[in-house]
Amino acid sequence: VSAPSHGVRVELGERSYDVCVGAGLLDDLASKLTALGAVTSVMLVTNPTVRALYGATVEQAIEPVSGKPPLVIEIRDGERFKNLATLESIYDTALDAGVDRGTLLIALGGGVVGDLAGFAAATLLRGIRVAMLPTTLLAQVDASVGGKTGVNRRQGKNLVGAFHQPSLVLADTLTLATLPAREYRAGLAEVVKYGMILDSDLFALLETRIDDVTAADATLMTEIVARSVELKAGIVERDETESGLRAVLNFGHTVGHAIEQATGYTRYLHGEAVAIGMVAAVGVSVAVGNCDPSLGRRLEKLLAALGLEK
Ligand SMILES: NC(=O)c1ccc[n+]([C@@H]2O[C@H](COP(=O)([O-])OP(=O)(O)OC[C@H]3O[C@@H](n4cnc5c(N)ncnc54)[C@H](O)[C@@H]3O)[C@@H](O)[C@H]2O)c1
Ligand SMILES: [Zn+2]
Repeated sequence: VSAPSHGVRVELGERSYDVCVGAGLLDDLASKLTALGAVTSVMLVTNPTVRALYGATVEQAIEPVSGKPPLVIEIRDGERFKNLATLESIYDTALDAGVDRGTLLIALGGGVVGDLAGFAAATLLRGIRVAMLPTTLLAQVDASVGGKTGVNRRQGKNLVGAFHQPSLVLADTLTLATLPAREYRAGLAEVVKYGMILDSDLFALLETRIDDVTAADATLMTEIVARSVELKAGIVERDETESGLRAVLNFGHTVGHAIEQATGYTRYLHGEAVAIGMVAAVGVSVAVGNCDPSLGRRLEKLLAALGLEK
């Protein structure tokens, strides 16, 4: 099987890692994991929804790597479970099973699984390796890359966490086919964001290939996810811990976050709120004369074509 795939290297000195993007890549997982070097055991963090779809493939690939089946740590599905209670359950299952410094955690799922497993890996035994297998578009283009991990608190989202870069990210674009359409569209908002802030070619590609984008064409989405990861990696390499530049990635997020908060995180998915936020941000830029009105019109037209107008 040689599906077209892209490798993006995130250069962060001794914390550098590869992001592999391609259709059907989960089938190559064993060889990618072997390249990470010796592991004493593998623990797979996932949720029931994703496990039912991709668990068997992943568990099969892991077995030869550590010589035994992985310990599977299942967490409940949903943003409301991205909390300390779930984190503690990961700690306890891993510690009871004898996690050691050579253990590799693997996060299989969307951003919720990735943020939780990443934070567990950052803190278990003061830090063990984690490999990300993102299965949502949002996690593939954003959450799995850059090393931000954490949990939510009553006071707000992602308020407790750590920077902990993964050792490997493997994004199989075929997994996008099973995503609920609404989740897929919400992920596209972050791709539009990259186009707006950093890459007019990517923006134009979305405009011209709208039907293939909407249909999650695996070849095109491999190109789009890889390009998005390159753009995010380029920012993370220059500002790993968000002291300044990395804030450009927050385009559309000021108003977006406010909308999510004002509606109790129930009405809009994150990407849907960001889409509204991007339109608002461009509106302000146009109003103060910093942006050509035609760009605002293009943005709104693209978002509408992607089903993100509200
Ligand atoms: N660390 C970062 O840099 C970063 C960046 C952006 C977002 N995030 C975080 O990511 C989280 C959101 O992630 P998300 O949008 O992936 O949501 P999610 O993890 O909740 O996944 C969305 C839903 O899709 C399901 N799912 C996942 N993959 C699937 C597949 N292939 N087929 C069918 N269903 C599938 C999940 O079980 C879930 O029900 C938020 O908590 C956010 O704070 C983190
Ligand atoms: Zn976002």
